[in-house]
Amino acid sequence: MNPHPSWMPPRWRAWAAAGAAALSWAALAAGTTAEPPSLLDFSAAERAQIVAHGPWPPKPRADGSNRVLGQTAAQAWGASLFFDTRLSANQRLSCASCHQPNRAFQDGLTTAIGRTAGQRNTPGLLDVAQWRWLGWGGTHDSLWSASLTPLLSDGEMQQTVPGLAERVRNTPELAAGYREAFGQAPPTEDTALVVDLAKALAAYQATLISPRTSFDAFRDALARGDSASAAHYSPAAQRGLRLFLGEGRCTVCHAGPNFSNGEFGDIGVPFFVPDGVDPGRYRGLQQLLASPYNRLGAFNDAGATDPGAVGTRHVILEPRHFGEFRVPSLRQLVHTAPYMHNGSLPSIETVVQHYSQLNEDRLHADGERILRRLNLSDEQSADLAAFLRSLSD
Ligand code: HEC
Ligand code: HEC
Repeated sequence: MNPHPSWMPPRWRAWAAAGAAALSWAALAAGTTAEPPSLLDFSAAERAQIVAHGPWPPKPRADGSNRVLGQTAAQAWGASLFFDTRLSANQRLSCASCHQPNRAFQDGLTTAIGRTAGQRNTPGLLDVAQWRWLGWGGTHDSLWSASLTPLLSDGEMQQTVPGLAERVRNTPELAAGYREAFGQAPPTEDTALVVDLAKALAAYQATLISPRTSFDAFRDALARGDSASAAHYSPAAQRGLRLFLGEGRCTVCHAGPNFSNGEFGDIGVPFFVPDGVDPGRYRGLQQLLASPYNRLGAFNDAGATDPGAVGTRHVILEPRHFGEFRVPSLRQLVHTAPYMHNGSLPSIETVVQHYSQLNEDRLHADGERILRRLNLSDEQSADLAAFLRSLSD
């Protein structure tokens, strides 16, 4: 696979190339770190846990709900739409205004600009096709429906379905783009046209996959029993990893190759916002179930038998969802500060401190008994931070 296909927008291509360069530089530098190569005596159980955090990159997830997923023409059109300010009502905002390619597709702000977007931190979009539920509160069950909302949202691009459909039909370049991506003229039905726009945007975003990291090289070396190569992974990161798997119990929620179980939790981040509280998953589920664009609705290209719709059909709104947020991936953290749904923690160190000094009284959901105050020493905190950094290129 060509890692920098020509349809990649130039800035993203440059970002990807810089990532590749940084990776080889890191490989060169690895031999000259202060601590000499050595491998902790990881137990068989620990090794199995480590191997379960890979391989990387992951297999693409099948998603029949979007008929143009994986199609080159739709990816190319989606890539140009992503940077196109003509999609917003005032023609000033594009997706890339907030999801900036040179910042791992987020914006570096505490919370996003805009009225409704502005209560939450903008998530990066690398590996976004891995998620079953999208948004901090799980408002969406497909990448394309999560791409439709910002177009129509008050706080973001402020379009209406008829307004946006008109703009595509009446802008020759956009109408031609549609024809190229979908093999036919734009439909006369407004909603069908706008949903297709979101599906092309999703086809593009599904190609955004984060580069391999020093953790992945370590994990693969362990998986093939190559201790000599594994020993080049920094000793501090190895000690931090042991904490992550053991005493910290981080891996219970931050599981699998993407370091997230894809579900929701409460880790005691306060959820106050200017006009009250952010209900998190509770409101997310209400919105998901009420949306005509969920997988149970008419716009799912896989129809009623979509295996991906099972979750949506069976999900139940419960009081414990109040104040729960999606467990984030831990890949590329170095490029996605600040952290948490409200951007309240500015650095990896402050996140480690949050877990170390956890206020257990703040945990309201019954399921979160996994978490407890860790009281880490300075050295342990530094090790855990070193491990978290090793998940970035
Ligand atoms: C004003 C800033 C802003 C703009 C413009 C914007 N987004 Fe977002 N985006 C956000 C924020 C904030 C969230 C988190 C929303 C939430 O969880 O409530 C988000 C969430 C997402 C998600 C879910 C990611 C995940 O990890 O679950 C996707 C996908 C996404 N945006 C795609 C887009 C696309 C495509 C566009 C353009 C059509 C766009 N966004 C425009 C700020 C923005
Ligand atoms: C009970 C499940 C759970 C456990 C256990 C857990 N986390 Fe988390 N983690 C979450 C959730 C949920 C969030 C998002 C919370 C929010 O935004 O309010 C999060 C957020 C984070 C973030 C911020 C990522 C970002 O992009 O904003 C980091 C870093 C992190 N956790 C690391 C850890 C570490 C290290 C441990 C172990 C000490 C750990 N987590 C244990 C559920 C968990």
